[in-house]
Amino acid sequence: MAAIDHETVRSNFVVGLRDVHAVENQALALIDRQLDRLKNYDDVAEQLRRHRSETETQIERVEAILDSLSESHSALKDVGMKLTGNLAALGHTIADDEILKNTFANFAFENFEAASYRSLIAMADAGGFGSALDPLKQSLDEELAMAAWIETRIPALTLKYLDLASRGETAGR
Ligand SMILES: [Fe+2]
Repeated sequence: MAAIDHETVRSNFVVGLRDVHAVENQALALIDRQLDRLKNYDDVAEQLRRHRSETETQIERVEAILDSLSESHSALKDVGMKLTGNLAALGHTIADDEILKNTFANFAFENFEAASYRSLIAMADAGGFGSALDPLKQSLDEELAMAAWIETRIPALTLKYLDLASRGETAGR
């Protein structure tokens, strides 16, 4: 394989950073919507609050990398919305079992974010953007940890939902 053209790597790296910036802002909105509605699942609420503050730091990391590349991060809001439309739609669903459906959506979302960071790490490596590697790896680790927490929690969450539902209590949120 011929050497990859540096300008091609750089421009795709910038696009990827802007997209993940938009995805993380979408994540904040999805977390806030869930925190507004959660009632009976304190551990989920606590974990979402914890990950919300991680997400804010992840946004700052992406902005710092864009700054270091002399790329503006203003007007980032619109970029990447095309990517997140489908995932965001999952978070809008208000079903009887919304705690379960939101958990599935959160799991998908965290894995989407993790995949984005893995791709950005490969681009940073290929483009010689060495100072971006550590912050991107840190964010990747946080996304993987959140995804793992969600995955591990699914069976117990399902049983708690069934228990609340069978007692006629608010089970869905
Ligand atoms: Fe995340």
